[in-house]
Formats: sequence, structure tokens, C-alpha cells
Amino acid sequence: MIIAIDGPAGSGKSTVAKTLAKHLGIRYLDTGAMYRALTWKAMQHNVNLDDENALCRIMEQTQIYFESEEKGLQVFVDGRNVTKEIRSPSVTNNTHHISGKPGVRAMLVNLQRKIASKGNTVAEGRDIGTVVFPQAEKKFFLDARIEIRAKRRFRERETPDNENSLDSVIREIALRDQRDTTRKDSPLKISDDSIYIDTTNLTLNEVIHRIIKEVNPLI
Ligand code: C5P
Repeated sequence: MIIAIDGPAGSGKSTVAKTLAKHLGIRYLDTGAMYRALTWKAMQHNVNLDDENALCRIMEQTQIYFESEEKGLQVFVDGRNVTKEIRSPSVTNNTHHISGKPGVRAMLVNLQRKIASKGNTVAEGRDIGTVVFPQAEKKFFLDARIEIRAKRRFRERETPDNENSLDSVIREIALRDQRDTTRKDSPLKISDDSIYIDTTNLTLNEVIHRIIKEVNPLI
């Protein structure tokens, strides 16, 4: 069984996907973390982020995997725990180079399918219901007003200061939305068969409750 959860940054999909996977006792697959992990590695190796062939070559030589630990899902690149590093602003702002390259996407999608083939999975991302798992048993698309999404991200920052003002987070998210929805390959979009949930005025519990009600008949 695959449950697909797509949506833009700050829509609540990571928290919802994690909580749902825990509730069902099944795997949680964070595909955004994989795009981030390869971005981190390419930056470490000073690879030209516009060079698709070079990015594909580095992906061929890279092992990205997850380990579930008490403190949450940990992300590894070639044996190194990069869970924290991949959330840095520089990685976040450069991930579009990786996610905009069809050759690299194809390799990451293969890996995502391989990981999910091991068992029931809640997978979250931008193209899960449309491209990676079009056959998913249930698909959800989470969304929220941009100001609310930015506020959620702003609150998560360790040191929300003036440099990281709410306005600049709104601008960052708007740019990411624009890049994710307009790229040629696998843009973020709602599939016809997905359940759309606007989380703007909902608590996490309300969203989870709604999703569990849809998923329960499957189990
Ligand atoms: O979900 P997260 O914010 O960690 O994703 C980081 C970036 O990775 C997104 O902005 C998007 O460009 C890319 N991504 C993607 N396809 C996915 C998951 C993430 O293109 N399935």
C-alpha cells in the first residue's frame, strides 16, 4: 500500500506524513530529503549545479538512505548523517538545480520506488501521486495560504531574527513554489484523483483526523 502526500513547502505534509506513518506502523519516505541530500553532496564536491551530466555522475556514485531512530528519521549520504545539514538555507536555496534536471529526477525516482517496494509506505513530496506512484491507493494534496505556510517555516527556525524576517520567508517560499510548479519535468500539481485539503485554518490533529478517516477503510 502506498499513501501519497504532495504539496508545497509549509503545507504541513511532512508532519502529517510522519504522524500518519507512525499511526499505521508503516514506512515514512521523505523524498524532499533525497533531493536535498544530493544537493548537499554536489555542493560539497563543488559540482557545477547547472551541469546535468556531472550531477548524474555524482548521483551514480552516491548512496542516499534513511534510518529510523528514536529522534526521528535520519538521512545518510555515503554513511554520513546529514539530517541537519540538508535543512540549511544554502541547500534549500540550491535544491531547485537538482529537482529541475530530468536525468537526476529519474535516478531519484528509481531509488524512491526501490525503497517503497520493501513494504507499505507513506511517501511525501511534490510528484508522488502524479509521477512516482500514480497507482497509490490514496493520494492527498495539502495546501495552505502562503502567509500561513511562511509563518510555520518561520517558527521552525532556530533563531528567527530580522535577517530571516517573515517577509523574506514569504519571498523564499513564493520563489520555491514558482520553481516547483513551473518546471517542465514533474511539476507540483494536483492529480485528478487526489483529495485536496486546505490546512490554512486546520490544526495538525484536524488534518490527521481527516486523512485517517479516508485511509482506515484500506486497512
Ligand atoms: O519537501 P522539501 O521542502 O524538503 O523539498 C525540497 C525541494 O525538493 C522542493 O522545493 C523541490 O524542488 C524538490 N522536490 C521535488 N520532488 C519531490 C520532493 C522534493 O522536486 N518529490
